[in-house]
Amino acid sequence: MLAALLAQTRLSPEALNAFFVRPPLMASAESSLPPIDWDALTFSFTETDRMFVAHGTWEDGWSEGEMMDFQPLTLTPAACVLNYGQGLFEGMKARMTPDGRITLFRPEMNARRAADGSARLVMPEVPEEMFVDVVRRVATENRRWVPPNGRGELYIRPIIFGSSARLGVAPADEYMFVVFAVPVGPYFKGGMTPISLRVSQEHHRAAPGGSGGVKAIGNYAPGMMPSKKAKSEGYSEIIYLDAVDHQYVEEVGAANFFCVRDNVLYTPELTGTILPGITRLSIIELARSMGLEVMEERVDIDFALECDEAFCAGTAAVISPIGSIEHGEKVVNYGDVGKITLDLYSRLTGIMDGSSEDPFGWTLEI
Ligand code: PLP
Ligand code: COI
Repeated sequence: MLAALLAQTRLSPEALNAFFVRPPLMASAESSLPPIDWDALTFSFTETDRMFVAHGTWEDGWSEGEMMDFQPLTLTPAACVLNYGQGLFEGMKARMTPDGRITLFRPEMNARRAADGSARLVMPEVPEEMFVDVVRRVATENRRWVPPNGRGELYIRPIIFGSSARLGVAPADEYMFVVFAVPVGPYFKGGMTPISLRVSQEHHRAAPGGSGGVKAIGNYAPGMMPSKKAKSEGYSEIIYLDAVDHQYVEEVGAANFFCVRDNVLYTPELTGTILPGITRLSIIELARSMGLEVMEERVDIDFALECDEAFCAGTAAVISPIGSIEHGEKVVNYGDVGKITLDLYSRLTGIMDGSSEDPFGWTLEI
C-alpha cells in the first residue's frame, strides 16, 4: 500500500526522505532515552541519532544536503570509492565544557585539509563554510551523545568520496559528502598510561610522491596487517620509518610523533609523506608560546631512542605518552610520563575542553 502510494508520488527521493525522517530529538524525548554509560566508552563505533548527506558533481558543485536519521547508504557496486579508493575522511571532536557549552577544536583546519586532500584525489572541494556548518549541525543534532566534561568526546567523522560508477581508473562524475558522529573514550587503552611501540622493519606507510600527506582512505588498510600483528604481540601500535632510508621517524600508526631531548621538542618535518596533523600544529604553537624550542626536522630513529621523553599526538590519540620503543635488537624505556609531555597535555586538553582559557581562539562553540 505504502509502496504503491510512493510509486505514484512525484516527490524526489530527497523530498521523501525529508518527509519521513525523524526530527531532531527534543529535550523531553531525550530524557526518556536509556542513560549512556560514559565511563565505559572506548574508541569504538556506536550508532548515534543523526547524520548528514550531500551530493556533488563537477558541473553543479555540492547540493545543500540534508540531515537524516543514521542509516545505511545506497551505493552502486561500481562506485569509484569501492573499486579505486577515491575518498578521504576527517576526524574531529566536539567536547562539553565544564559550564555545559559544546565546542569544536579548529574545525576550519579540518575543512582546509579535506579540501587539499580533495584536490589530490580529484574530487570537488567542499567549501570551508559548508564543511564547518555541517559539522556544527551534526554535533548539535547528536548533542545527547556528547559526553560530560572530562568523560569522553563526540568524535565527528566527515567523509568525501566518489559515489558514481566507474570501470576505467578515472575520477567519478558524482560525489558524496557524509558526516556522522560517535561518542568515544581513549584511543589507547589506559588513557595517559605510557604505550609500548615497535618500529616496523618491513612496512612503510607512505612514499615520496604518494598520498601520505592527505587523509586518503587508501592510506589506512595497508597498515592494518602490521598494526594487528604488533598488537597481537603486546604492542599498542607501530612506528613507521621513512620509505627511502628506513632511518627517519614518520608516524605512529595514525598519529604524529614527538620527542623531547634536553628541553627541546622535536617532531618530524612535513615532507609530504606525513599527515599534517592539527594536533601536531597546535602542540608546536602551544610549545613555542610556552618558550620551548621546537625543531621540525628529520628525526633519526637512533636519536629518538636516546631522547628523554616521547609521545604521539592526534585527534583520536590526543597526546599519548610513549613508554617504550623496540627497534630491531634495541629497546628503550622512557619511564613514566615526562614533565614536558604532561605539561603540554594538560595545557592542550584544558583549552580543548574549556577548563582553561583559550588564548589562541582555537575553540568554536556550536
Ligand atoms: N597521522 C595520521 C596518519 C592520521 O590519520 C592522523 C589523524 O587524523 C594524524 C596523524 C593526526 O592528525 P590530527 O591531529 O589532525 O588528528
Ligand atoms: C584521528 O585522529 O582523527 C584519526 O583519524 C585517527 C584514526 C582513528 C584513523
